[in-house]
Amino acid sequence: MTVIGIETSCDETAVAICKDGRILSNEVSSQPIHSKYGGVVPEIASREHEKFLNLIAESAIAKAKISLSEIDAIAVTQGPGLAGTLLTGISFAKGLSIGLGIPLVPINHLEAHIFANFLADPKLEFPFVCLLVSGGHTQLWDIKKMGLYNLLGETRDDAAGEAFDKGARILGLGYPGGPEIEKKSQGGDENLIKFPRSTIDTESLEFSFSGLKTSLLYFMDNFKETKNITLADIAASYQKAIVDILIIKIKRAIKKTRAKTCVIAGGVAANKTLRFDLQKELSDIKILFPDISFCTDNAAMISFLGEIKLNSGFSSNINFGAEPNLQMVKP
Ligand code: KG4
Ligand code: ZN
Repeated sequence: MTVIGIETSCDETAVAICKDGRILSNEVSSQPIHSKYGGVVPEIASREHEKFLNLIAESAIAKAKISLSEIDAIAVTQGPGLAGTLLTGISFAKGLSIGLGIPLVPINHLEAHIFANFLADPKLEFPFVCLLVSGGHTQLWDIKKMGLYNLLGETRDDAAGEAFDKGARILGLGYPGGPEIEKKSQGGDENLIKFPRSTIDTESLEFSFSGLKTSLLYFMDNFKETKNITLADIAASYQKAIVDILIIKIKRAIKKTRAKTCVIAGGVAANKTLRFDLQKELSDIKILFPDISFCTDNAAMISFLGEIKLNSGFSSNINFGAEPNLQMVKP
């Protein structure tokens, strides 16, 4: 089956083609315009999607070397995300569905991030623990099987990606903050500044990053760069604190569930320190990350999960709307 996936939940305009579980093309157009505002401006993001979505779709179809008539179905992100940006993708997908007379399936963006790990390892087996770390979410999941998910813990305040983004702003770096902090950290000493690692208590699987961010803010109030403490040292120490918090919680989740496999999903999964430290600290279980290009927002994961859903008999009419607060499990 050939599925076209469409993703517009935030500021990446993305279209991909998946055929029989293989990604034939994966087009992502970022919106650099937001970097001058230090974060995504929803109205601008919607307008940018509107302007470029058809071009990105044409390019994805051309790169996949298929024709429109070969597409069997469409998968589109329904949520969570920004209401206006989701609407641009959903409207485009509905038009395509009516025009081509083919089915359309709504996809949960978070579930798609998690299932991107099956692209990394098609033999991945349930159950597994998943750390979902994106710009809006930091959650630990016990993924028992398709459709059966148990939330083990989530953040009480900022998401891990948000901690990177806000930290980068405090350090005077660009947006998105994760890759900026990662770049700045190179050559820095990650053990130089002891930023706090909030673990809440000895058992909790919840996260909190707001104290860490505040501590960076206070640190920068009195900071003057010298050769003893550079911006690279601060970025590396701050990054290390976020990574340490994530690893402490993953260890607890694995202990609690006795999972043999842990997968990481979402934009922060692209972070190399997180990847390296996790492999080092959890050498006795299987750790899986999607390919870097499938960690941050993309439509490959949408088309891939769309095909899985369609193959398992899932169908939908097109009378669905954008769900900015869509959850993995119905509350
Ligand atoms: O999954 P994603 O692309 O979008 C959402 O669904 O939110 O995640 C975006 C987040 C941003 O906060 C960004 O700073 C972070 O992922 N991110 C990273 C890296 N690349 C993206 N954080 C740390 N290291 C990275 N290399
Ligand atoms: Zn995402």
